[in-house]
Amino acid sequence: MKIAIGCDHGGFDHKNAIAEHLKKRGFELIDFGIYENKSVDYPDIAVKVANSVANGECTLGILVCGTGIGMSLAANKVKGIRAAACSEHFSAKYTRLHNNSNILCLGGRVIGVGTALELVDLFVDTPFEGGRHQVRIDKISKIEES
Ligand code: RB5
Repeated sequence: MKIAIGCDHGGFDHKNAIAEHLKKRGFELIDFGIYENKSVDYPDIAVKVANSVANGECTLGILVCGTGIGMSLAANKVKGIRAAACSEHFSAKYTRLHNNSNILCLGGRVIGVGTALELVDLFVDTPFEGGRHQVRIDKISKIEES
């Protein structure tokens, strides 16, 4: 599985730690930056990761900003993206099981690196349950078309 990753200055250290961790686990990564810790506008990174997931280049994406919220708002503007800002384990797991979320957004100023790595593992290791949840996701897609 190939994973797209990106951050702004609020999530720089977390993004690098997550990239290291995923590489060690054997995942192929595309790192959309930032590559040095300077102030940037989070939508500029969110759209790169979101496009990479939406066009099938990557299967899942991870975005980190200060809260995870700005990245999720921006990424969710891209058709086909279901980005979830999570700061605890239950949500990171169930947003895969029930929402088939394809981007996990984390807050570098909200959670520590240790929690971030655990949430990333849960997110990438949990499959979508399908069934009645697919019906609901189809309804989200219909909203996108309307
Ligand atoms: C940047 O200061 C901060 O606003 C950004 O990282 C993010 O938290 C936005 O949602």
